[in-house]
Amino acid sequence: MKVVLKCLWFILPAYIANATPVVISHMIGGGTPIDRGKNFIDGKRILGDGKTIEGFIGGVLVGTLFGIIQALVINNYGIIVQALLLSLGAMVGDLFGSFIKRRLGLARGAPAPLLDQLDFLLGAIAFVLLGGITIPKSYILTLIVITPLLHVGTNYLAYKAGLKKVPW
Ligand code: CTP
Ligand code: MG
Repeated sequence: MKVVLKCLWFILPAYIANATPVVISHMIGGGTPIDRGKNFIDGKRILGDGKTIEGFIGGVLVGTLFGIIQALVINNYGIIVQALLLSLGAMVGDLFGSFIKRRLGLARGAPAPLLDQLDFLLGAIAFVLLGGITIPKSYILTLIVITPLLHVGTNYLAYKAGLKKVPW
């Protein structure tokens, strides 16, 4: 249990970054697609309408802001850079996931089991590692197991709350 809580504390900025675009797009009623409606060489959308500039920037900002709160709580300001990397990595990983989904011919919002739940997590972890921050292997493995479970649960709640059109 202790390890799980430590993992959650570490990854929270990424989770928050990932949840923020859903709320933002709901508040502003959409947003500007990052791919600006353009298609890739396969004739399908590069990313799709579900990936917006507003959502991306909002996710990075809110995730990093949460990191500032964490820094104040534990009195360690190094964690802010880590939160920025986690948030940015989560948003880039999420884009990468949508890029793959579009190449597979999946419409915006279509379910892609594991990819939907892990793209942002793997992006966040990759950015932290690339930033030269070491994370125990046990954290990475634990997060790969618990994130899909939490993601399914929270997305179902977001769907019930009317924030998401689909429960995944
Ligand atoms: N969102 C956004 N900008 C982002 C990421 C997400 O505006 N960079 C918003 C969109 O309204 C999106 C919602 O958050 O519909 C949920 O995100 P996600 O489940 O990742 O997108 P999907 O609509 O499922 O699209 P995809 O099939 O590409 O995953
Ligand atoms: Mg989705």
